[in-house]
Amino acid sequence: MAYQSVHRAARQPWIWALLIALLALALAGPAMLFAAPPEQSAGEGETLFQAKCVACHTIGGGALVGPDLAGVADRRDAAWLSQWILAPDKMLAANDPIAVQLLQESNNVPMPNLALSEAEVASLVAFLANPGADAVTQPAAPLATGDAAHGRALFTGSSRLENGGPPCMTCHSIAGLGALGGGALGVDLTKAYETYGGDAGLAAFLNTLPTVTMNAVWSSQPLTPAEQDDLRAFMQEASFAERPPQTVWLLALLAAAGVALLLLLAQLIWRKRLVSVRKTMVQRARA
Ligand code: HEC
Ligand code: HEC
Repeated sequence: MAYQSVHRAARQPWIWALLIALLALALAGPAMLFAAPPEQSAGEGETLFQAKCVACHTIGGGALVGPDLAGVADRRDAAWLSQWILAPDKMLAANDPIAVQLLQESNNVPMPNLALSEAEVASLVAFLANPGADAVTQPAAPLATGDAAHGRALFTGSSRLENGGPPCMTCHSIAGLGALGGGALGVDLTKAYETYGGDAGLAAFLNTLPTVTMNAVWSSQPLTPAEQDDLRAFMQEASFAERPPQTVWLLALLAAAGVALLLLLAQLIWRKRLVSVRKTMVQRARA
């Protein structure tokens, strides 16, 4: 059974897309070492900001997951800003006092390392120092309400994503899926609706998917606006659904059953091998 599903999975085109994306990610790292020297441009910075930052920040539109960045260049010096945007995780690990304080102020949601190049960071810092009059604020238009049931189907993969992306459940667990909470490999998304600041914040996140893995997987096969609405509606619903404690036991039981099945399979295969090895030995002895 496990065998079959592995084979079936291998025939899905998105598995290959995923592998290629991960490979590209592995190759991109070293390539960055040879990137061109920094060249600042605030215009470039604005484009980057729209692609990588608006999921969590506005400039003058209030706090989302991260603080409002209006006037941030006056609050912090340029060297700190560059270091921060380049590797917020490292600054936190080094107990930078500002980083520690910011984390406390944002309910312990850390800013992810977005794997930007030094040139990209330089243009972002230039943009933040001088964002211009038409500062980036969140869209004022009210958001469409999605269909939570369809969002659930998209999350689990029982409905196909239009552009062929893998179902969220491959990597994420979430409450509200019944006994099977979903893949335990990625982040649990039960609280994502709250941590991302509700509808507006999550909408911005799903629209740009700025973090490293999410971006590698989704940039070539984006979620459609309708899919984003449906997923958001489902994730809102899931944020209210607490996982009943007995499902933990059920999951443990299922995992144990899986291990037992594998052992059984291994034994069957091993036995057959033993028999066939013995057969040839007996035949050889007879000859
Ligand atoms: C997934 C959410 C997320 C994304 C995407 C993100 N940030 Fe942040 N950012 C945060 C959070 C949360 C904080 C508060 C510090 C913390 O908790 O780590 C923060 C803090 C900051 C600060 C410090 C603010 C201050 O008051 O000193 C700056 C500057 C910043 N981010 C810039 C950026 C830029 C530029 C980008 C895009 C390249 C970006 N962030 C993308 C979540 C995010
Ligand atoms: C290939 C695995 C994979 C798939 C598929 C995937 N994600 Fe993710 N997701 C991740 C990883 C890993 C992270 C952690 C940040 C990063 O590295 O991108 C993440 C982060 C997130 C976050 C931020 C969570 C947090 O607490 O900061 C949200 C929200 C999210 N994913 C939503 C989704 C949705 C919705 C889908 C389906 C449309 C999806 N993901 C599909 C791997 C995946």
